[in-house]
Amino acid sequence: MTTTAVNTQHIQAMDSAHFLHPFTDFKDLNSRGARVITEAKDIYVWDSEGRRMLDAMSGLWCVNVGYGRKELADAAHTQMMQLPYYNSFFQTTNVPAATLAAKLASLAPTVGDRSFDHVFYSSSGSESNDSNVRMVRRYWDLLGQPERKVIIGRVNGYHGSTMAGASLGGMSGMHAQGDLPIPNITHIEQPYYFENALPGESSDAFGLRAAGWLEQKILEIGPEKVAAFIGEPVQGAGGVIIPPATYWPEIQRIVDKYGILLVSDEVICAFGRVGHWFAYEKFGYKPDLVTFAKAITSGYIPLGGVMVGNRVAKVLIEQGGEFNHGYTYSGHPVACAVALANLEIMERENLVGRVRDDVGPYLAQQFAKLSDHPLVGVAETCGLMAGLVLVKNKAHKTPFPSELEVGMRCRAHCFANGLIMRAVGDRMIIAPPLTITHAQIDELMGLIHKVLDLTLADARAALWMD
Ligand SMILES: Cc1ncc(COP(=O)(O)O)c(C=O)c1O
Repeated sequence: MTTTAVNTQHIQAMDSAHFLHPFTDFKDLNSRGARVITEAKDIYVWDSEGRRMLDAMSGLWCVNVGYGRKELADAAHTQMMQLPYYNSFFQTTNVPAATLAAKLASLAPTVGDRSFDHVFYSSSGSESNDSNVRMVRRYWDLLGQPERKVIIGRVNGYHGSTMAGASLGGMSGMHAQGDLPIPNITHIEQPYYFENALPGESSDAFGLRAAGWLEQKILEIGPEKVAAFIGEPVQGAGGVIIPPATYWPEIQRIVDKYGILLVSDEVICAFGRVGHWFAYEKFGYKPDLVTFAKAITSGYIPLGGVMVGNRVAKVLIEQGGEFNHGYTYSGHPVACAVALANLEIMERENLVGRVRDDVGPYLAQQFAKLSDHPLVGVAETCGLMAGLVLVKNKAHKTPFPSELEVGMRCRAHCFANGLIMRAVGDRMIIAPPLTITHAQIDELMGLIHKVLDLTLADARAALWMD
């Protein structure tokens, strides 16, 4: 691929002078200049200096169908020429928004007594979780239980960056910068076996114990005050934390016992990432609300929303009257048209089944081999998301002191060697496009081995290894 001619320094100068980036130390970025990404195709991106990188993060967990899909650009163009925008307030709808809602309802599996026939649209994951807070509280108000206000999330969970999203999430660094969480949101510990299991404890036993923290918290607060529990099926931004198989069924038992709502935040996990259209199906639970965003359009245009299960929808529709909540771009026709085209590609190419039966198992097989590397404490996958932990002592799985920032050093080697992999502390994580081939997985694994070797050489030279 030839890269578009771009004057890197000029772009970096404008960027430094005017663009405050998300989740960024502004001063630090200005001192080095941002990487300028100019083009992308398939699973690769190019920067303004013509360097190619294998994007093992699908942008930011979004580009599930890969880059350069003409159908998605065509869908946006056609819709923009026909109806670029109209709102869905004032008893109005548009063709793509209604069509997509019906499509999503047909894709979301019914589990037990829970079906998903309704969608509430937003433009992002964060907004969708704000909508969840509004819907959860409205639901209990309508049922005459207004004291049910508390929503329980998890430490190191991520639910977005708005005031409600960041409050539902359990990122201490985010809470510290905004007087968060907002009232009536609290957290339990995450189901992270590698860090939180007791010596000799089996994964299944740990899963039950970790779910038990929810019951303890409910009893501590008083069950009559608890409105909902929210969790990601697999924690993404927290470092691809894959819960034990026993965890979600036990969470389901507990929420059922106390009658509280269950919110599955599938902003990362839905649309094939774990080999299912929706991840609650894989993990065996039946949520009341399901958050989605990102891969609904493969990130080509912003769109998010909530699948509203029948339990909540029935109350909101039949008893609710006007719901005083919504966004200018709820049901944006262009975003919905792109989503429909994106889902059509996913169906035509059987991308979800491919992750479940083909590339997911192949990645699992190849990724497991990383466990033999001297720097790797654990390497695990779920569908097409994966994480490994860098440790200073493999036998005892001893972590490096966090101030050494070994994960960031590894990430620097990734960029220098044409690989985009994310560091969450010393957990290195990937979530490549669902279109990745076996040969590209081999290429990816070759790059990962290389950057691990380079990081190991650094750590040995600095005498950090035990
Ligand atoms: C599980 C989860 N929920 C919510 C969000 C927030 O989405 P957005 O950045 O689109 O607001 C994210 C973003 O990564 C996420 O991973």
